[in-house]
Amino acid sequence: MIIEPNIQGVVAKNAHPEGCEQSVLQQIEYVKQSNPIKHGPKRVLILGASSGFGLASRIALSFGASQSDTIGVSFERAPTAERTGSAGWYNDYYFKKHAQKEGRVAINIAGDAFSKSIKEQVIEAIETYFEGEVDLVIYSLASGVRPNDETGEFWRSSIKPIGQSVTGASIMLDSDTWTEQTLPPATEEEARATLKVMGGEDWEAWIDSLINSESISEGCKTIAFSYIGSQHTHPIYLDGTLGRAKVDLHQTSHSLNLKLANFSGGAYATVCKALVTKASVFIPGLTPYLTALYKVMKQNGTHETCIQQVQRLFTTKLYCGSVVPVDGERLIRIDDLELDAKVQETVGSILRDMNADNFAKLGDYEGVKQEFLQLNGFDFEQIDYSQPSTAD
Ligand code: NAI
Repeated sequence: MIIEPNIQGVVAKNAHPEGCEQSVLQQIEYVKQSNPIKHGPKRVLILGASSGFGLASRIALSFGASQSDTIGVSFERAPTAERTGSAGWYNDYYFKKHAQKEGRVAINIAGDAFSKSIKEQVIEAIETYFEGEVDLVIYSLASGVRPNDETGEFWRSSIKPIGQSVTGASIMLDSDTWTEQTLPPATEEEARATLKVMGGEDWEAWIDSLINSESISEGCKTIAFSYIGSQHTHPIYLDGTLGRAKVDLHQTSHSLNLKLANFSGGAYATVCKALVTKASVFIPGLTPYLTALYKVMKQNGTHETCIQQVQRLFTTKLYCGSVVPVDGERLIRIDDLELDAKVQETVGSILRDMNADNFAKLGDYEGVKQEFLQLNGFDFEQIDYSQPSTAD
């Protein structure tokens, strides 16, 4: 069938298989010509492996010098006769195809990472394919819901400010239009539920399960991705429900660090740059900031994509010697180029002038939109989209 992008608001309803393969291949190419990851982990578990930071990490480790074997867990939609799969489904498929071609072990586990049964399946896979132990666990889930095993109900995250309402704009990627919205403050219950979904509890449950099943190797590390941002994003992010969940994740990294010290390992929250991903465009008010940020960082030559961010993480932070460089709160920072004072000042002045009529001109909306389309396999010049997809 011929596949054209079907976007509703900021959500892609379909994906292009060959385009997703192209996206995976371009990331593989990037890591092959980058600085090698020396002394990298051999056996890696990635939770949230099919897109964004998780997929980029999997590619950097498998195709970079460490030639890691990987087990990836993701929650994606498979294709049917009527409908394409989700981009993440194709990413998993093509990652595995190319990793196996190069002799890597690449196990995909599809299902809800919050569930007990997926934790059990992963432990079984570690037994079967990794001789029982894992050297690095990457926690990269971005989810809106988490089942509560005790009640059979769900915690649902709410992306809202705390304490006061916030007014901001979002850019609808289907119609290229700017919409103002006012978000009311979260209730205590909404903030609590968001922390349950995006905080550190499930990360800790994973590491506890792996410790209990004796699946942690000597020197094993674990990381989870976080975001802090600047004064321009604080009202909706750091000072809101998501920020509260991320602070919880940072605190969890300290308790996990103590647990992994028993294995001469460590746990770190890793603070990344704001980037276009399936999860981030969903955050109300973030797209104007992303368009301004992309414009300024591209002009400065400091813009990085997910694969560039994680490549820098592994080569200059996590596997660059016996000490992992961290800030005063024991966080790994790869958001330094975003938070550069001059960058933020210029972003601020663009945002002050940005409105419904000029956002595409003042910011790099074209770049943001292209990255969003490419996440879903569209807008690659190598693909002839007028031809039917012949995905194998
Ligand atoms: P993404 O939407 O690209 O990827 C999320 C991954 O989680 C996908 O592989 C998806 O299949 C998986 N997933 C979601 N729910 C699941 C479930 N119940 N069971 C199994 N897998 C599930 O998201 P992105 O942006 O890469 O986010 C990953 C982490 O990075 C998040 O913690 C996010 O807060 C953080 N981060 C993102 C930034 C950004 O600008 N995109 C910046 C800094 C941190």
